[in-house]
Amino acid sequence: MADLIDIAFTLNRRPVHLRARSDLRLLDLLRGDLRLTGAKEGCGKGECGACTVIVDGQATDSCLMMAFQADGSVVETIEGLAGDGLHPLQDAFIETGGVQCGICIPGMIMAGKALLDRDPQADADAIRGGLAGNLCRCTGYTKIFAAVARAAGRPAPHPRATATTPAAAPAYYRPRSLEEALEILAQRAGEARPVAGGTDVLVKAKDGQQSLGTLFDLTAVPELKGIEERDGHLWIGSGATHAEMMASPLVARHLPSLPQACAVIGGPQIRNRGTLGGNLANASPAADTVPPLYVADAVVELVSVSARRDVPVADFFTGPRQSVLVPDELIVGVRVPFRGGVRGCFLRLGQRQAQAISKVSVAVGMTFRDGRPDWVRVALGAVAPTVVRAREAEKALLAGGYEGLRRAREAVKSEVEPIDDLRSTRAYRREMAAVLLERAVRSVAEG
Ligand SMILES: Cc1cc2nc3c(=O)[nH]c(=O)nc-3n(C[C@H](O)[C@H](O)[C@H](O)COP(=O)(O)OP(=O)(O)OC[C@H]3O[C@@H](n4cnc5c(N)ncnc54)[C@H](O)[C@@H]3O)c2cc1C
Ligand code: FES
Ligand code: FES
Repeated sequence: MADLIDIAFTLNRRPVHLRARSDLRLLDLLRGDLRLTGAKEGCGKGECGACTVIVDGQATDSCLMMAFQADGSVVETIEGLAGDGLHPLQDAFIETGGVQCGICIPGMIMAGKALLDRDPQADADAIRGGLAGNLCRCTGYTKIFAAVARAAGRPAPHPRATATTPAAAPAYYRPRSLEEALEILAQRAGEARPVAGGTDVLVKAKDGQQSLGTLFDLTAVPELKGIEERDGHLWIGSGATHAEMMASPLVARHLPSLPQACAVIGGPQIRNRGTLGGNLANASPAADTVPPLYVADAVVELVSVSARRDVPVADFFTGPRQSVLVPDELIVGVRVPFRGGVRGCFLRLGQRQAQAISKVSVAVGMTFRDGRPDWVRVALGAVAPTVVRAREAEKALLAGGYEGLRRAREAVKSEVEPIDDLRSTRAYRREMAAVLLERAVRSVAEG
């Protein structure tokens, strides 16, 4: 039986303080305890966006967030949108005929609101990107995009909600320091499991592979947050989200392939919550942040109550979904050595542009002297049990010129060990590894 715990947050501009079951997702709390049924459960796995609400200004899939993770936050739902009249987005959806079905539209409007709050003059591309995490099965996207475009620039009825309600959740579920988080792991190692963005763990729970009652939250642990320069390195906290890595000038300068990888992960709701630490701990051979970390010779920082250790990223993974991380350890962050003038590129092939898992991915890092490559790294994802470095391809590229590129293309095909699966065939993956490598190298060389 799950515990009853205190949770407090600001909901639609009003403070809320309640006792709720510790195993509820935010979606369950909103629809059940609070009777706010605008957010819908479509897939329950972060794929459709029907459950979208806004948390601290960001579009969020409420099916992938534990209720206690909202503690101390500002939450907006479709029910809080209207003032004396409808919100401009609601008006615009009616005017353009964008309102099509009751399942998807509340989530579409909330994703549209998060976008226009941030970028009131969003253009067509920004609107498509802002709604990439919201599916419409009746394919009425044209009117939906037109509605958001029509609302752009219209004044909102309320100022953006910012006043916060003091947090109330117990430290046992929501530790406020690294020490508290490690203590929970030490006491309940093997049972308690950390959740950060929840975009992997809550999907597993939906599939019955994980209990929600054993989770505790990492998002209030300050030591896991931030992106900064530390001792001649770029340091990225494990709690950095994909959206934060995409927006960071430091990451763009020192590890340029990483923001490109983050930009293709899921849709906005997934990138707003999903973290670097979660992507690493999940240990998928298709994890998109990993090839960029390989090409940067990154080091993963691990800590438990009794020890700290640094593991080069290439030694961190031991197989598909397997790593050296042990149950009482946390990933604190990742260190990337500075390399002057580094250029990079990440490319991947998926089933479709948004919300797709990589079939093949390639990251390239290079530096040049007098127009010739003098340092080269190539790493590939989804083509072997773990991400792999393509050392022969690197050697060929160091030689430079068209011949070097041709030899690198051939070399990379024998350096990968792809499998046949539902998403693709072995032969196709092998061929595409070479194609993506050439495109990535050309993009880096053209600067
Ligand atoms: C619709 C959808 C699309 C997606 N698309 C992509 C994609 O294109 N590319 C891609 O790579 N991934 C994708 N993912 C997977 C997921 O979003 C990423 O792996 C994400 O980075 C996971 O981070 P998280 O914080 O949400 O992890 P969580 O779900 O919170 O945690 C994942 C695992 O990591 C552990 N963990 C989390 N933080 C730490 C830490 N600091 N120390 C130790 N263990 C920790 C948790 O205990 C858990 O076992 C997608 C997921 C969904 C639902
Ligand atoms: S219900 Fe589909 S993303 Fe949450
Ligand atoms: S709006 Fe719901 S299926 Fe299109």
